[in-house]
Amino acid sequence: MVMDVYGIIGWPVSHSLSPVMHNAAFRALEIPAVYGLFPVAPEDLKAALEGLKALNIRGVSVTIPHKENVIPHLDALNEVAWQIGAVNTILHREKKLLGFNTDWIGVKEALGEVIVLRGKRAVVVGAGGAARAVVYALKHEGAEVVIYNRTWEKARDLAERFSVEARPWEELPRAKGEVLVQTTSVGLKEDVSPVPKEVLSGFQVVMDIVYTPLETRLLREAREMGCTVVHGLKMLVYQGAEQFRLFTGQEPPVGLMEEAALAALKGE
Ligand code: ATR
Repeated sequence: MVMDVYGIIGWPVSHSLSPVMHNAAFRALEIPAVYGLFPVAPEDLKAALEGLKALNIRGVSVTIPHKENVIPHLDALNEVAWQIGAVNTILHREKKLLGFNTDWIGVKEALGEVIVLRGKRAVVVGAGGAARAVVYALKHEGAEVVIYNRTWEKARDLAERFSVEARPWEELPRAKGEVLVQTTSVGLKEDVSPVPKEVLSGFQVVMDIVYTPLETRLLREAREMGCTVVHGLKMLVYQGAEQFRLFTGQEPPVGLMEEAALAALKGE
């Protein structure tokens, strides 16, 4: 039987949850395809992308540190990916590599489960690569976005890029709004939070894009302050589900993908 091959390119990729999510979905829908890990060092990126064509790999997820650097090597870029300035999904069709971004859909759908964003004030903590898809999603859904970042210039540049507001990092303890999204790596495998707990009391919904641990200190404190919390794993699952739609043209079994990711995260 001929199997379609998909995978993820990144450096490192060994801890990625994407293979378990996509393979679980392929199995459930009886699609003859397999999804693997492709560790690609930065200096090998161009050759790896040429290799996708040569080996007829049907599509790949793209993760850190390649999301921006793949762009010059693609044959076409979808409008939203161009606006965000990052690609997390590449489709290979008829010897052409096409770039997409599904991260923002992950943010939109994860938050959309718990709140209508239109007209809400949304605080974004951080202004790195991950913040771009978050700001795009919030703005697209009609929220009023305010960015706080430790390095002012990065907050200002990101705010300018998407025509939203930036505030100085020192003002974060007085931040107000309905939604707060944490986009930095603070809290990753460490029990620390970049947001003072008292700030959270005014917010309805708090989301963290970090998902190891599943419940970061920020989310634990937000829960204690009575906020609705959105785990980073939700964003991961929804961006993967949209990727699956692009890869296969079929409706993804989202619940199953979430269960598979959760089980892998818990080491089951
Ligand atoms: P990513 O692509 O994962 O977003 P990045 O582009 O390196 O990674 O961005 C990291 C983000 O986390 C930045 O907003 C960074 O703030 P600076 O612009 O000031 O560097 C933020 N960050 C990292 N460590 C931080 C810390 N200890 N406190 C506050 N912000 C931090």
